[in-house]
Amino acid sequence: MAYKEGQPQAVLREAYEPPAYLLDHTDLIFELAEGVTEVTAALALRRAPGQGAAPLVLQGQDLELLGLALDGVPLSGNEYRIEGDTIVVPAMPEEGTLTIKTRIFPEKNTALEGLYRSGGMYCTQCEAEGFRRITYSLDRPDVLSRYRTTIRGDGAVLPIMLSNGNEVSRQTLADGRQEVVWEDPFPKPSYLFALVAGDLQWIEDRFVTVSGREVTLRIYTEPHNIAQVDYAMDALKRSMRWDEETYGREYDLDIFMIVAVDDFNMGAMENKGLNIFNTSCVLATPEFTTDLGFQRVEAVVAHEYFHNWSGNRVTCRDWFQLSLKEGFTVLRDAQFSADQNSPTVKRIEDARFLRTAQFAEDASPMAHPVRPDSYLEISNFYTLTVYEKGAEVVRMMRTLLGAEAFRRGTDLYFDRHDGQAATCEDFVLSLEAASGADLAQFRRWYSQAGTPVVSVQSAYAAPSP
Ligand code: SER
Ligand code: ZN
Repeated sequence: MAYKEGQPQAVLREAYEPPAYLLDHTDLIFELAEGVTEVTAALALRRAPGQGAAPLVLQGQDLELLGLALDGVPLSGNEYRIEGDTIVVPAMPEEGTLTIKTRIFPEKNTALEGLYRSGGMYCTQCEAEGFRRITYSLDRPDVLSRYRTTIRGDGAVLPIMLSNGNEVSRQTLADGRQEVVWEDPFPKPSYLFALVAGDLQWIEDRFVTVSGREVTLRIYTEPHNIAQVDYAMDALKRSMRWDEETYGREYDLDIFMIVAVDDFNMGAMENKGLNIFNTSCVLATPEFTTDLGFQRVEAVVAHEYFHNWSGNRVTCRDWFQLSLKEGFTVLRDAQFSADQNSPTVKRIEDARFLRTAQFAEDASPMAHPVRPDSYLEISNFYTLTVYEKGAEVVRMMRTLLGAEAFRRGTDLYFDRHDGQAATCEDFVLSLEAASGADLAQFRRWYSQAGTPVVSVQSAYAAPSP
């Protein structure tokens, strides 16, 4: 939450300003030890093109700052200042690598945002603004960076150490600790960063993509849950094939991992290459799970996997655009579930859910547009309106355009915005450009709260005999 003099400050959509600095590369080193973790972040920063000299402002929360250096030279007390939760470097040069050393306490982190320890296991949740609890950074979705993550810890306690991307090295250090290095070649915003470490077991499978690339698939759990993830693996492979066939979307890393965690605020999270799930959304076994439970696992596995394109390859410019990834991805998982099961049953379930739960939200003091105009705390906006109504708005456009023109539109959207942070408007513009249709009427669905009352008049003229 943004505070000024103790008062929450509203963040306004209209006040959006592009970032003053870009982050080409983020190099993170985690030293995991009982009770305390040290994080060294090297941020390769560059002034954004067209921007004049501006102070560099980095966000942080509940961090203990141990050191700060620019291009290897420690900054003196008058070269930076701490302002509330931020670090400000007033005379930041056009380009430079800022190295920040911080201390954090995952064992004491009960917010379950940032890096925390649940049972013996370390894990992260960075959406929407949890990364700032790991280190000072440009914690906003329109700053995309390539990450390299080094994790060091006691190999006996933490035999598994995971992060985004591909594993590039593993070694035992002179002091006996284990070190694993991960590199993610795809630029991503900080909210998609993830780290997991613990005593985990896994099941493994493989998937050959449409263009013949082989991908290793792994699902990790604590040992007592490992017998309950076969169905999730099956759902994952079907999701990967379905997204190739239906949306032309192919997976892009050598490995895709899912980790099941007992203590997790959300249902699941689409971190690049390393999805983290609440156990309730991934474990399933014929002995204990109902048909509905199996369908839920299938839908959540698909939802998070589909985010790899709708959310990760193309991400959101700011959090007001949350429905850009969530509304579209809910539609995609609903289409998948419909194809895998009964389309009629799925549609009736979704319409019922919308009418009971989302209509109620839209008629309450909680009512807000699919694309809100202001917020005090973004984590309160992970709502039925952003997700479910957002999905229905995309579905309406699809119905109006027809499946083929819609697919041309989504292809164009992914093409135009791959590697970028986009807006809901960019999405509608792509659908318009690819179809030639005028979708002006849909803009109001993004900006206006409430359930519209639709009046229909019909007339029937009997054909003359
Ligand atoms: N981004 C997550 C999801 O919807 C948060 O819940 O999948
Ligand atoms: Zn989602």
